[in-house]
Amino acid sequence: MEFRELIAKRYSVRAYRPDPVEPERLERILEAARLAPTAANRQPFRVIVAQTAGRTEELRRVYHRDWFVQAPLVLCVCGLTAQAWVRRDGWSALAVDAAIVMDHMILAAADQGLGTCWIANFDAGAARQVFRIPADAEPLLMTPLGLPADAPSPKERKGLGQLVCCERWPAGEE
Ligand SMILES: Cc1cc2nc3c(=O)[nH]c(=O)nc-3n(C[C@H](O)[C@H](O)[C@H](O)COP(=O)(O)O)c2cc1C
Repeated sequence: MEFRELIAKRYSVRAYRPDPVEPERLERILEAARLAPTAANRQPFRVIVAQTAGRTEELRRVYHRDWFVQAPLVLCVCGLTAQAWVRRDGWSALAVDAAIVMDHMILAAADQGLGTCWIANFDAGAARQVFRIPADAEPLLMTPLGLPADAPSPKERKGLGQLVCCERWPAGEE
């Protein structure tokens, strides 16, 4: 798919078909995660690939939406806090690194006709238990992965004039 088309076509899929994801497609998605840039190339992340079959009840504890467990797979990006690059003023790039990893996977999935939905509003404590995430790692982002069973709505976005400014922040809005 051409890049512009891919960006326009990706949407948050909130209904999935139960068909399995072929291993070759999953591999391409995980390879996109592996090639994602991270601050200082620390690669402070793990991707958990979880089957939903037979785990519906425990996964519902993580994120209580029917569509979360409709897809055959759930991907969870975890950050390794101590391995992340930290700026001199204390700011950690961990969440940004994780978001880039997730975005690479989500675009790679869309490129292959697979649906995803960014999920941050999950129960982190339940995620730790269900995915056995150790204390030095943090579950940061999740997505189901499977064939879409819904259709996109028109994108609601602000205009470029509201999002982009030239040279400096607009006067009067500081
Ligand atoms: C960081 C992040 C967290 C999100 N968390 C959730 C979530 O917990 N649940 C959900 O249904 N959608 C979640 N979304 C999806 C957004 O609501 C969605 O991307 C946005 O409304 C734009 O719609 P689109 O993805 O269809 O273009 C999240 C998106 C991002 C980028």
